[in-house]
Amino acid sequence: MGKALVVYGTKSGCTKGIAEAIADGLRLAGATADVVAVEDKPDPSAYDAVIVGSGIRAGSWHGAAKRWVTEQAELLKARPTAFFTACLTMHTNPEKAEEVRAYTVPLIAETGVRPVDEGLFPGMNLPKTFSLPERLVMKAMKSPEGDFRDLAAAVEWGTEIAPKLGLTA
Ligand SMILES: Cc1cc2nc3c(=O)[nH]c(=O)nc-3n(C[C@H](O)[C@H](O)[C@H](O)COP(=O)(O)O)c2cc1C
Repeated sequence: MGKALVVYGTKSGCTKGIAEAIADGLRLAGATADVVAVEDKPDPSAYDAVIVGSGIRAGSWHGAAKRWVTEQAELLKARPTAFFTACLTMHTNPEKAEEVRAYTVPLIAETGVRPVDEGLFPGMNLPKTFSLPERLVMKAMKSPEGDFRDLAAAVEWGTEIAPKLGLTA
């Protein structure tokens, strides 16, 4: 069975929880999975497949997540790679999934890394997990407060993508 690297970029901790749930799903499918923060600059070379995701700020992945994908692009192109995104639009307007999918289009174009799949997940708006400027943006946007993550859906997605990533038969 294959070995997966799950990498996440987060500011509030939201996306870390989703990454851990995805790894649980991969393990349920029979793969092994390590979960690593993007700031720890994981090396994909020892892994059969990679899943990398980020929370969203103003329609874009966190800079650190984009930088890691850019730096590791050659290794990511050489093995099956999936993306995932956590954001509030997937809670407030799930019908706008195509808009959310577009958040990673520039990164895909710039790096040439083509994800075999892209998981889109609702995130959270817990003011105490945000900086003051971030809180003010969320307030101005009248964003609903709460933890809207569906961790069961993230586990399920992890199990579903394992064969697509060549991790299981
Ligand atoms: C300043 C700010 C800007 C945001 N911009 C967007 C956005 O453009 N689209 C969206 O769907 N969610 C947006 N969000 C919501 C976050 O993506 C959501 O809170 C997510 O759970 C953050 O996860 P993270 O802290 O792990 O990155 C924004 C949140 C903040 C604080």
